[in-house]
Amino acid sequence: EREKCFWYRGLPVPAETHSLDSLRFAEDFSFRDEDVLAVTYPKSGTIWMQEILPLVLNGGDLTPVQTIPNWDRVPWLEEKRLALVLDQLTSPRALVTHFPFDLMPPSFHTSKAKVIYVMRNPKDVLVSSYFFHQMATFLDDPGTFDEFMDKFLEGRVLFGKWTDHVKSWMKAELGDRILYMTYEDMVEDLPGSLRTISHFLGKNLSDQVIDKIAETCSFKTMKDNKMSNFSLVPKMYMDSDKSPFLRKGIVGDWKNHLNPDQLARFCSVIRKELEGQSMSLPWS
Ligand code: PPS
Repeated sequence: EREKCFWYRGLPVPAETHSLDSLRFAEDFSFRDEDVLAVTYPKSGTIWMQEILPLVLNGGDLTPVQTIPNWDRVPWLEEKRLALVLDQLTSPRALVTHFPFDLMPPSFHTSKAKVIYVMRNPKDVLVSSYFFHQMATFLDDPGTFDEFMDKFLEGRVLFGKWTDHVKSWMKAELGDRILYMTYEDMVEDLPGSLRTISHFLGKNLSDQVIDKIAETCSFKTMKDNKMSNFSLVPKMYMDSDKSPFLRKGIVGDWKNHLNPDQLARFCSVIRKELEGQSMSLPWS
């Protein structure tokens, strides 16, 4: 059987959605100053940003999120789809990526493209990823939760270690080109988070428009939007009977999945790897 993942610059990536060509395409990608890039470690709020960015950039116009599948609307920089849809993107273009900072292409560094880095409590990332590996047949079976947690902590999962990803972007020194957000803040206060994002992108949106966007990118609405809930993907690739992509959308589901031993093991590894970092993270 064909390997489901291959290693690229030290990171596992899924072969179904990525190829050496697509990764080289990403490395040669020409960023424009007006581009907006949402950066996430997997399962931290990527598809949420694929909903939010077009809504904010188009002043609340629902057309893109109601007519274009999320993966073509705000494509992944590193995935095969990008080369196919790039010409159809209108400026300002919105993209997402799971790349750590050190894989960003040269044009990114010389451009003024804006970045929104969304991070999420790694314990919830782990749980979300575990269920995603059960439903996505193009990924390896996760095994038991305990086994999957070991893989996660060792970085033998998509895009490597959570700590490496977060550290790389936290020390990126992009000044006012980068906005750091947390999934938890977005869940806690979506309209407030949308206002922060709008200001960052230079969009002055009325309260009415903000409320409309908040309603459109709520968990409930996205779960019913076939352009965003992955129901367009054939069941042989994603089996939502096993677990939906938009699974729970809550903060703290880890409490239902980690036993006290696992919690201690998880926290000690993460704490150790973040030691000496000047950044303060809301969960450590
Ligand atoms: S991926 O595969 O990396 O693109 O996944 P990603 O989109 O980063 O993460 C999926 C999790 O984000 C949740 N999600 C949301 N939560 C709250 N509100 C909204 N609108 C929303 N949209 C997506 C999604 O449910 C996954 O988290 P879990 O905990 O599994 O539910």
